[in-house]
Amino acid sequence: LFARPWEFITSVKEMHQLPVLDGIEIAFAGRSNVGKSSLINKLTGKKALARTSNTPGRTQMLNFFGAEHSMLKIVDMPGYGYAEAPKGMVDAWTSLIFDYLRGRSTLRRVFSLIDSRHGIKKNDLDAMAILDKSAVPYQVVLTKADKLKPGQLQRMKEETLKVLAKRPAAHPEVIATSSEKGLGMDDLRAEIAQLVSY
Ligand code: GTP
Ligand code: MG
Repeated sequence: LFARPWEFITSVKEMHQLPVLDGIEIAFAGRSNVGKSSLINKLTGKKALARTSNTPGRTQMLNFFGAEHSMLKIVDMPGYGYAEAPKGMVDAWTSLIFDYLRGRSTLRRVFSLIDSRHGIKKNDLDAMAILDKSAVPYQVVLTKADKLKPGQLQRMKEETLKVLAKRPAAHPEVIATSSEKGLGMDDLRAEIAQLVSY
């Protein structure tokens, strides 16, 4: 799956521009700057597939990526929370994110990215509440694990699992990743391969 070349398909700014329902989609969601676009690049082995930046608010549309002869599409989302962009724009993409997450029959799993230094925040819980309510399965992926010592990372994993324990649509496992060091990529690829195989 990830040995194939991944390509950009389309960018969507409004719900009516979404591609026709076909195959399956997985989406990468999370606060601005958490590392969504970087993780997609690392996963697909294509450095500049999704645009990344130090500035929160880089990704401003739903960006769809696909590989030839694959039914899977990967969706890079704008972040929620603080972003360096005009308020009108941030409000527009925030509604787009939540509308997409609420109702998309092709959406098989949302990877909910959490900065491993900061843990789950209020707006992450808001997003999870929407997914729980809409019965959209999601799995937490801790990002930037290279910034933590092994003991700190282990504690963050345990703390995160505790928060997830009572959430109905949450996957019971958490994957720690680093796009910088490649940590966790095999686990994440294995999860995705499993989603595609049924
Ligand atoms: P928005 O599109 O603005 O919501 O951000 P995003 O979630 O797509 O984050 P992006 O991938 O653009 O990365 C944000 C910043 O974090 C960049 O400066 C990345 O280089 C950095 N970053 C991403 N992943 C990692 C990681 O695993 N380790 C470290 N140390 N830095 C990372
Ligand atoms: Mg981005």
